[in-house]
Parts: sequence; C-alpha cells; structure tokens
Amino acid sequence: MASSSSALGLILLLSLPFFIKAATTAPPSLQHRFTSIFSFGDSYTDTGNLLLTNHTSRLGRLPYGETNFHRPTGRASNGRLIIDFIAEALGIPLLPPYLGQSKEFNKGVNFAVAGATALDTLIGYGAVTLFVPGVFPSGCSTAYLGLYISNNKGEYDSSGCLNRFNDFSKYHNNLLQKELQRLQVLHPHVTIIYGDYYNAAIGLYQPPNNLGFSKGGLRACCGGGGPYNYNTSALCGIQAFTVCEDPSSYISWDGVHLTEAAYKWIANYLLQHSSVFINSRSH
Ligand SMILES: *[C@@H]1O[C@H](CO)[C@@H](O)[C@H](O)[C@H]1NC(C)=O
Ligand SMILES: *[C@@H]1O[C@H](CO)[C@@H](O)[C@H](O)[C@H]1NC(C)=O
Repeated sequence: MASSSSALGLILLLSLPFFIKAATTAPPSLQHRFTSIFSFGDSYTDTGNLLLTNHTSRLGRLPYGETNFHRPTGRASNGRLIIDFIAEALGIPLLPPYLGQSKEFNKGVNFAVAGATALDTLIGYGAVTLFVPGVFPSGCSTAYLGLYISNNKGEYDSSGCLNRFNDFSKYHNNLLQKELQRLQVLHPHVTIIYGDYYNAAIGLYQPPNNLGFSKGGLRACCGGGGPYNYNTSALCGIQAFTVCEDPSSYISWDGVHLTEAAYKWIANYLLQHSSVFINSRSH
C-alpha cells in the first residue's frame, strides 16, 4: 500500500469506504485532480476481493457481471459499481481488488473486504481528502421489503418503502455527520466530506417513473420469486433464480445490491452534489 506517500486522498469509510490520492499539483479539471483511489468498504464497493477469498461465492457466477464486463468479476451487481463510475469520472482506471496484486496497484486499490478502518489511522497515513458515505435508504431495500411484508399501508411511504427502516437510516446518517463534524474540527488540515448516499438513492424510488427505471424501484431483477422477487431460498446466482431481460430498467439487482444503471445514477448525483468534486472542477 502506498502509505509512505505524503498525500493519500479521498476515503470512503463504513459502508463504502475508499480514498483518492490527491495530485501533487493542482491541474484544471476533475480528471487530473486525483490520481488514485483507495477503498475501504463492503460488498457495495468490493471489486473482487471476496471472490478471491472464496471461489465458490455466487458473485463468481453469471448473471453477476453480465453487463459491461460480460463475465463475473466479484462485483455484487450486473456491472459496474458506484466506485467504478467515480473512478471513470476522475480518469482513473477501474479499481483492481487488492488481493489480485495487479500491476495497476499504484493507481489505487480496493480494500473493500478489510472493512471499516479507523479514520484516524487513515489520516495518520497521510490521507488529505476523505469521502465518507452514509447508508442507503434501507426501507427501500428489496430484501427488507421482502422479509418484513406488512398489511398495514401506514408502514409504507408513497414510494412503497418501509418508513421505519428509512427512519433508522436517517438516524444513522445524522449521527455519522455529527461524528464527521467532530473529526473535521480535530483534523483541520484534512478535508472530510460526507457522501449523501441516502438522498442520492431516495430520488430513484419516487413515483411515477422512478427516473426511467420502468420496472419499478422495489422488485429485484435477479431472484427466486415472491412479491419482490427476493427469496432467501433461491438467491440470485443460486438454484432456482431467474434474471430479468433488461437490468437497466430495475433499481434492485439481487434484492440487496443495486443494478449498474442505478449505481451510475447515484455516482452522477454524488459527483454533482459533493463539494470535493464540485470544487475540484473549478480549480
Ligand atoms: C463461500 O461461498 C459459499 C457460497 O456462497 C458459502 O456457502 C460458503 O460458506 C463460503 N465460504 C466461506 C469460507 O465463507
Ligand atoms: C423460494 O425458493 C424455493 C426454492 O427454490 C421455492 O421452493 C419457493 O417456491 C420459492 N418461493 C416463492 C415465493 O417463489
């Protein structure tokens, strides 16, 4: 890991952590502002580590990876992830999994399976820009909707999401933002940015058209039946699942993870709404 370098850049911690190494000079466009990404996170940002540690994982089977890559890469989606679209926007190659020991190592690497690492540690290593995502609106998660089906309409919002889980996500994100503000005061020389995944994603679920996700926001493209096509006995990639013809018309890929099309939309929202990217453009 390039921890000896003086300026490691942007980090996503908790659910989707990565960080991007800042360029030593300040060139004009977003394309040259950051030179590498280092990522700390889970399956929402894992570009292949889990699969390298467990070759029997369903992430190693089609239809995972059927879009864009045309083969399973270990990503938990039909195609690219948010982090891939951010890398593309920054002009950085897609992140190789760190367990893969790729030649592209110096362009950044994905430590997703390593889990959340303390922000302080990363700052200690020289990170200068940290991008820390909140959580998605979990009340709109297909898996939760399938597991906690209710006859009481009052439990759902106008998008069909479960209010109590969305409330919990908002609560989590509020605490996270308070903690980030505290850390920002403690570390004034580091830029700590909150990645608003909740508001990036919530717009996708709003009727009537779900932003072109015509099959609706809540039903999974790939799954084994049931009202939301999420069946824990027949998960995507395992046994009796089916996969939709056009994943780009769905938000939910496998009930837990989103489609490439949804991740692309969210990445664009983050690139347009996060000060670190906006300010980078105007340099
Ligand atoms: C590897 O993946 C398979 C399939 O998902 C799972 O059943 C198994 O428990 C995993 N093994 C480990 C060591 O995590
Ligand atoms: C869930 O999957 C199991 C195993 O394939 C199947 O027997 C069951 O009918 C499925 N449930 C629904 C609601 O489709």
